[in-house]
Formats: sequence, structure tokens, C-alpha cells
Amino acid sequence: MKYARFITFGIITFAIIICCAQVIYGQECLSCHQKPITVKLADGSEKSIQVNVEVLDGSVHAKLDCADCHTEKGDLPHPRNIVTKKCQDCHIKESTLYKNSVHSQLKESGETRAACTNCHGVHEAKSLDYIKHPEYKKLILETCNKCHVSIFNVYSLSVHGKAIKNNILDAPVCTDCHGEHAIAEIASAESKVSKAKLPKTCSACHDQEKLVQKYNMPGKRFETYYDSYHGIINKYGESFVANCASCHGAHKILPSSDPKSTINVNNLSVTCGKCHPNANANFTRGKVHVRATKNVSFGVYLVRQFYTWFILILMILFISHITADIVRAVKKKRRSS
Ligand code: HEC
Ligand code: HEC
Ligand code: HEC
Ligand code: HEC
Ligand code: HEC
Ligand code: HEC
Ligand code: HEC
Ligand code: HEC
Ligand code: HEC
Repeated sequence: MKYARFITFGIITFAIIICCAQVIYGQECLSCHQKPITVKLADGSEKSIQVNVEVLDGSVHAKLDCADCHTEKGDLPHPRNIVTKKCQDCHIKESTLYKNSVHSQLKESGETRAACTNCHGVHEAKSLDYIKHPEYKKLILETCNKCHVSIFNVYSLSVHGKAIKNNILDAPVCTDCHGEHAIAEIASAESKVSKAKLPKTCSACHDQEKLVQKYNMPGKRFETYYDSYHGIINKYGESFVANCASCHGAHKILPSSDPKSTINVNNLSVTCGKCHPNANANFTRGKVHVRATKNVSFGVYLVRQFYTWFILILMILFISHITADIVRAVKKKRRSS
């Protein structure tokens, strides 16, 4: 116990020295990098090397030291191309998903389409807690809009885009439908918006009873789709039939009440006509989302009820018939023996 005080003292002193070294080292970097210095690049353009400390301190990496990422060791001034760790070096899980994504590489040229830093920024990376922030979904839109401007513009006119603008955060942004790190080419079966996977992607929200009631929308979209001709064929892996986006569009989805909507009564002959060249008003009158309950679609309800009872009664008659047959056979055997 004699040495306990010395040991405690030693540990505290050591910790203080480490902290001071870190602060001084960070400060040392900032003594130059907080100033508005620009440098000329090889192609003649100018680049700022000023670091916005507020941004870095507000990021999820605030607790890291400059040198955790900029690992160049040695005297200052440091060399021109200072060694920087890649995001991939510390974030294996996301990097593995990202490696096979459409943003990772162009097959032929090996060029990166969107690097980690294109979406997260260089020093701005936010913590996942930010998902709860009211501006979170708008930030995602800003991120994708850096490169997919025309899609963003179309999306902004949709029921979903307008909802986000009005702070209805239950509506989807790009990543709700496409994902983040594993975004695949849309033609690929891996894509969240592939013909086979899209019904599930949309229904993640549109089959939520609570959400559907909150926005007074018709629900059970997944079930009613897979009950339809199109859904049954899609289920067997055929991609030529209609899925949610064939009728509703992908980025410009509007409610049926909107005259510009692909599912407005007056536009259905065009929408269905893409695949059914003879689609007239009579053809399109048939309901697409048919839920076999009495008050939604009486015809289908009636047919279902009829078949259910018909088969049930048939079964009862069949079983009684066989039973009667057996009883008669047994009686006959007893009488003859
Ligand atoms: C004496 C001033 C000074 C100090 C201190 C300093 N830097 Fe720099 N830093 C510069 C200058 C000047 C450049 C631009 C070099 C060039 O490209 O000509 C630069 C460039 C950089 C770059 C960009 C390199 C590139 O190729 O794009 C990084 C990253 C960097 N510094 C990190 C740091 C870190 C981390 C520290 C602390 C360990 C630090 N610097 C300390 C002056 C300084
Ligand atoms: C989480 C890792 C990380 C931390 C922590 C970090 N940086 Fe960076 N920094 C990067 C990355 C990644 C780049 C981009 C490198 C590239 O483009 O090749 C970068 C770029 C830079 C640049 C070049 C200018 C620019 O904005 O592209 C400077 C200067 C710089 N960092 C200085 C600092 C200083 C000073 C600190 C500490 C106060 C620091 N960095 C902390 C990862 C980090
Ligand atoms: C030296 C290792 C290191 C490097 C390099 C690094 N990070 Fe991190 N990153 C961390 C650590 C450690 C945390 C957790 C910080 C915390 O929770 O306080 C983190 C957290 C994150 C988070 C939040 C994760 C969550 O669950 O909330 C994101 C996003 C992130 N980093 C993105 C990046 C990006 C983008 C880059 C490249 C610019 C990068 N990181 C480079 C170590 C690193
Ligand atoms: C196309 C844009 C995009 C690219 C490219 C991207 N991310 Fe992300 N990343 C996101 C979005 C969106 C989130 C969701 C949460 C958020 O905003 O922080 C996220 C979340 C994260 C998280 C938090 C934990 C998690 O898994 O949700 C980490 C860590 C992360 N990314 C690291 C990386 C790294 C490392 C790379 C490069 C290999 C990368 N990201 C590339 C968009 C992207
Ligand atoms: C409601 C779901 C949904 C939302 C939200 C959404 N997308 Fe899409 N996106 C789709 C579907 C479905 C397709 C496939 C359309 C097809 O099969 O032709 C698609 C296709 C794409 C494509 C490739 C085809 C093309 O039109 O160029 C890109 C790029 C894309 N989306 C980016 C985005 C971006 C960026 C955002 C956000 C501004 C976004 N998406 C929002 C569902 C969505
Ligand atoms: C730095 C630029 C950049 C950013 C940021 C970016 N992308 Fe991309 N994205 C591309 C490029 C380039 C392609 C390949 C060419 C194309 O199809 O547009 C691509 C392809 C895609 C595709 C596949 C398109 C297809 O035809 O198969 C989707 C889906 C997509 N991006 C969604 C997103 C989403 C969602 C975000 C935001 C989280 C995002 N992108 C952010 C540049 C970017
Ligand atoms: C993240 C959840 C979410 C996803 C994913 C989603 N939606 Fe929506 N959708 C909503 C919300 C919330 C509304 C209501 C917006 C409002 O009323 O302002 C809505 C509204 C609609 C409407 C208008 C309904 C009405 O009665 O006014 C249609 C049609 C629609 N979505 C179709 C789709 C399709 C098709 C997909 C897939 C390509 C999809 N949605 C994906 C949440 C989602
Ligand atoms: C063959 C075309 C077609 C397919 C496939 C389709 N829908 Fe519909 N959808 C319609 C039509 C037409 C309406 C409006 C009339 C009705 O309710 O039958 C509608 C109505 C809706 C509504 C209510 C919108 C409103 O304003 O009334 C939502 C939400 C919806 N569909 C989502 C989906 C989802 C999610 C999928 C995929 C699982 C899907 N739809 C598949 C054609 C289709
Ligand atoms: C992407 C293409 C596509 C779109 C869009 C589409 N269908 Fe279909 N539909 C098919 C295919 C393929 C079949 C199965 C083959 C067949 O019988 O023609 C089918 C079958 C049908 C059938 C049963 C068979 C028949 O021909 O009577 C009906 C009814 C039907 N669709 C109605 C509609 C209605 C209503 C719309 C518009 C709201 C629509 N479809 C939009 C591709 C589509």
C-alpha cells in the first residue's frame, strides 16, 4: 500500500502528458491549417488547405486526433503528399458492402463514381444519431443531389418529395428506396428496386397499418399486388409483368386524385397501354389492387365466399359418402358371415 499513491500519481501524470501532447500536436497542425492558406495544384488550380475546426469538432470524429488519420510521422513542415488513412481502413463493414456497389468502380476504367468522402465529406462525417435529426432526410437529398440533379428535380415534384419539403418525414428519400452502401445497378437482381424486390421496398411503408391510417391511404398494397395477375407472375420470377413502378412511376409518384398522376383514371389507358396495346376505358376499369373483403370489392368477395362454401360443402358430402359406403360394406360383411 506504500506505493499506491506513487502509482496513482504516475498514471495521472502520464495521462496528462499524453493529453497535452495530443492537444499540442493538434494545435500544431492548426497553427497553420486554421489560416486561409491556398496552394497551387499541378494543373494550375487552387486548393484551400484551411480546416474548419467547428465542422471537425461537430463531426463524429471529434475525439480523434489529426494524426489518427494523417499518419505522417516526422518533422514539420511535413512533406507535400502527407499520408492519409482511408476511411476503409477503420470501417470494414461499410467498405465491404460498398466494394460491390455501383458507386465503387466503373468496370472498365476502374474510376470511382462516388467515394466515401463524396457522401460523408472529408471532415464532416455525422454520427448515426443524426438520423433522429429533423434535417437528416434533407441532408441525404442534398448528398445525392450533388450528382443526380435531374432525378432530384423530378423527385421533388412527387408526393414523396413534396411531403419531405413539408417536413413529413415518414416519406421516403433516395436511401429509403435504394439503400446506402450496397446501391446496385438498377438492372441487377441485387438492387432494392429490382423487379422482384421493389414490391417489398415500397410495402415496407405502404403495408404499415399505422402509417397508412395516419395519412389516410389505402393499405395492404403488397398482398393485393401479389393477389393480382401481375403479382402472381412476378412471384414466379418473370420480370416482364407490371410492378409498382410500371404503373406508379419511380420518382414522380402522384396520388390518383392528381390529374398528372399515371394512375389518374384519365391516364390509365396510356399507363396500361405501355404493355396492353388495346387497353381501353373498359379494360382499365378493372381494379388493380383488389382486396377480397366485402366493402372493398363485392364481386371478388362474393366469388371467394362462394368457392369457400362450395368446396367446404363438397368436402362434407364427399366424406359422408365415403363413411356411408364403409358402414354399408361392414354391415354387409357381418350379415354374410
Ligand atoms: C508550418 C505550417 C504547417 C503545419 C504546422 C502543418 N501543415 Fe499541413 N500543410 C501545410 C502546407 C503549406 C500545405 C500545402 C502543401 C502543398 O501542397 O504545397 C499543407 C498540406 C497539408 C495537407 C494536404 C496534403 C495534400 O497533399 O493535399 C494535409 C492533409 C495536412 N497538411 C495535414 C497536416 C497535419 C495533420 C498537420 C499536423 C500534424 C499539419 N498539416 C501541420 C502547412 C502546415
Ligand atoms: C477521420 C479522419 C480524419 C481526421 C480526424 C482529420 N482528417 Fe484531415 N482529411 C481526412 C481525409 C480523408 C482527407 C482527404 C484526403 C484526400 O483528399 O486525399 C483530409 C484532408 C485534409 C486536408 C486537405 C484539405 C482538404 O480539406 O481536403 C487538410 C489540410 C487536413 N485534412 C488537415 C487536418 C487537420 C489539421 C486535422 C486535425 C485538426 C485533420 N485533418 C483531421 C481525414 C481526416
Ligand atoms: C483512424 C480510424 C478512422 C478513420 C480513418 C475514419 N474513421 Fe470514421 N470513425 C472512427 C471511430 C473510432 C468512430 C466512432 C466515433 C465515436 O463513436 O465517438 C467513427 C465513426 C464514424 C461514423 C459514425 C458511425 C456511427 O455508427 O454513428 C461515420 C459515418 C464515419 N466514421 C465515417 C467515416 C468516413 C467517411 C471516413 C473517411 C473520411 C472515416 N470515417 C475515417 C474511426 C475512423
Ligand atoms: C452514396 C453515398 C454514400 C457512400 C458512397 C458511402 N456512404 Fe456511408 N453512409 C451513407 C448514408 C446515407 C448513411 C446513413 C447514415 C448517415 O447519414 O450517417 C451512411 C452511413 C455510414 C456509417 C454509419 C454506420 C452505418 O453503417 O450506417 C459509416 C461508418 C459509413 N457510412 C462509412 C462509409 C465508408 C467507410 C464509405 C466508403 C467505403 C461510405 N460510407 C460510403 C452514404 C454513403
Ligand atoms: C419511392 C422510391 C424511390 C425513391 C424515393 C427514389 N428512387 Fe431512384 N429509383 C426508384 C426505382 C423504382 C427505380 C427504377 C426505375 C426503373 O426500373 O426504371 C429508380 C431508379 C433510379 C436510378 C437509375 C435510373 C434512372 O432513372 O436514371 C437512379 C440514378 C436513381 N433512382 C437515383 C435516385 C435518387 C438520387 C433519389 C433521390 C433524389 C431517388 N432515386 C429516389 C425508386 C426510388
Ligand atoms: C459523386 C457523385 C455521386 C453521388 C454523391 C451519388 N452518386 Fe449515385 N451514381 C453516380 C454515378 C457517376 C453513377 C453511374 C452513372 C449513372 O448511372 O448515373 C451512379 C449510379 C447510381 C445508381 C444506379 C443507376 C443505374 O442506372 O443503375 C443509383 C441507384 C444511385 N447512383 C443512387 C444514388 C443515391 C441514392 C445517392 C445518395 C445517397 C447517390 N447515388 C450519390 C454518382 C454519384
Ligand atoms: C419510407 C416510406 C415510404 C416508402 C418506401 C414509399 N412510400 Fe409512398 N408514401 C409514403 C408516405 C408517408 C406517403 C404520404 C405522403 C403524404 O400524404 O404527404 C406516401 C404516398 C404515396 C402515394 C400517394 C397515396 C395517396 O393516397 O395519396 C403513392 C401512390 C405512393 N406513396 C406509392 C409508393 C410507391 C409505388 C413506392 C415504391 C416505389 C412508395 N410509395 C414507397 C411513404 C413511403
Ligand atoms: C398494374 C398497375 C399497378 C401496379 C402493378 C401497382 N399499382 Fe398501385 N395503384 C394502381 C392504380 C390504377 C391505383 C388507383 C386505383 C386503385 O386503387 O385501384 C393504385 C393505387 C395505389 C395506391 C393509392 C394511391 C391513390 O392515390 O389512390 C398506393 C399507395 C399504391 N397503389 C401503391 C402500390 C404499391 C406499393 C405497389 C407495388 C406493391 C403497387 N401500387 C402496384 C396501379 C398499380
Ligand atoms: C410492364 C407491363 C405492364 C403494365 C404497365 C400493365 N400490365 Fe397488365 N399484364 C402484363 C403482362 C405481361 C400480363 C400477363 C400476360 C397477359 O395475359 O397479357 C398482364 C396481365 C394482365 C391482366 C390479366 C390478363 C388479361 O390480359 O386480361 C389484366 C386484367 C391486366 N394485366 C390489367 C392491367 C391494367 C388494368 C394495367 C394498368 C393499370 C396493366 N395491366 C398494366 C403487363 C403489364
